[in-house]
Amino acid sequence: MTALQHVKLGTYYVVQLPDADDFDFWRERARAFVQCDVPPDRIAWAEPGGSGDLFAHGERRMPVPPKGARPVRANRRFVQLARNAILHSDPERFALLYRLLWRLQGKPRMMEDKADPDVRKLEELDKSVRRDSHKMHAFVRFRLVESPDRSGGEDGEGGEHYVAWFEPEHHILRANAGFFMRRFSNMRWSILTPRGSLHWDGETMAEGPPAERHDAPQGDPMEDLWRTYYASIFNPARLKIGAMLKEMPKKYWKNMPEATLIPELVAGAQKRESAMVEKGTLEFEERPDTLAAIDKAIHACRKCPIGSLDNQAVMGEGPQDAALMIVGEQPGDQEDLAGRPFVGPAGKLLEHHLDRAGIDRKAAYVTNTVKHFKYVQRGKRRLHQNPGAKEIDTCRWWIESERAIVQPKLILAMGASAARGMLGKTVSISKARGTPIPLEDGSELWITSHPSYLLRLDGPAREEQERLFDADLAAVKERLEELA
Ligand code: URA
Repeated sequence: MTALQHVKLGTYYVVQLPDADDFDFWRERARAFVQCDVPPDRIAWAEPGGSGDLFAHGERRMPVPPKGARPVRANRRFVQLARNAILHSDPERFALLYRLLWRLQGKPRMMEDKADPDVRKLEELDKSVRRDSHKMHAFVRFRLVESPDRSGGEDGEGGEHYVAWFEPEHHILRANAGFFMRRFSNMRWSILTPRGSLHWDGETMAEGPPAERHDAPQGDPMEDLWRTYYASIFNPARLKIGAMLKEMPKKYWKNMPEATLIPELVAGAQKRESAMVEKGTLEFEERPDTLAAIDKAIHACRKCPIGSLDNQAVMGEGPQDAALMIVGEQPGDQEDLAGRPFVGPAGKLLEHHLDRAGIDRKAAYVTNTVKHFKYVQRGKRRLHQNPGAKEIDTCRWWIESERAIVQPKLILAMGASAARGMLGKTVSISKARGTPIPLEDGSELWITSHPSYLLRLDGPAREEQERLFDADLAAVKERLEELA
């Protein structure tokens, strides 16, 4: 029996999608349609709450693919773009994707045809969705609210809840949940949007219904921090209004506390720029050429918002001519209070393993990639937050300056942030460890895990990771002896 015999001639199918962003649902149906040879113009794809009623007479039962039907062809590029494009708000997207999938069966290289209108449309949708996600990552601003439940969790410190309002153009909310979960894992937060909401309680993610702007709070003390930060980084000499509007379109301004400053800053920019030229401060700063100068400069650094929190910069410590530089992520709570790197629990564990490997901590220069402690306040506690890639990249200026002065032969970067601080890109620790990476100044970079990571493990997993950590340190020790 051929596939055609399975489909009643003239049947018009209606597929009601359960969710506007459900790629798997679309894919499963689309495959069955292809296997039953149902042409694109015989299917109406209806979004939830959409125009399904218009097709009241359409067939809603799916055709069943014949036994032994040919597998559906879809190359990687198509699937990759389709997964993203399905999040677009264009109601025609499902039909477009099906038309492409249908055509791919007879023309497997179709995705390479950049002039094909369907391929071009797919690429446009993908790009627009990516741009929307990028805006969401950059412009979501949480505002602190007191939770109605003041009793708190086990630690009695609940009650703090951050809420953000955002208006995405497309159905990107669910697809970006992981990003915000990872970035703000220690906070309790909600993101409210007209398309739905997300709620993270520190452990689980829940989805909620669409919200309205007035459901979100309008202003809190965090906003002052953002405004101060934004005013401090605003560089009139680099002001390009066109580029700024492109990056930060006006429609997002109303939800961003710092945006209220923009008209004022733009108006004052020219005056400030002339003043800077006169004072000679327009250029980038010179690299400090002593460790003491770096120490002084990092205390004044406000190049990223971490420096505006209630903390102090923590300078590296150790001999200026150390052969080994040990690099961590950022000072923790205890390091911030003491003003010295690695003096808390991670530092103790590090010292224990250095001893085991026969490496003298005092002979090494010990420092951090990011100079300030990034945290969120939870009651009386300050909870560590991972620095973001932008923050690490901004702070690289200081670690590079330290490297230029100390000129270590060997650098041990512990953890992903330290590795990024050295390389300017993200690498996988498990892949990078054990093999030195030659750096442009002739030194060698060795990457290992961070002691705080070990502290979060227990049982056999902890033993295994400590064993790997010991092996990395032993290799570093051996290499140091070779280079001595
Ligand atoms: N973790 C780090 O990365 N650095 C410190 O100084 C302390 C903990």
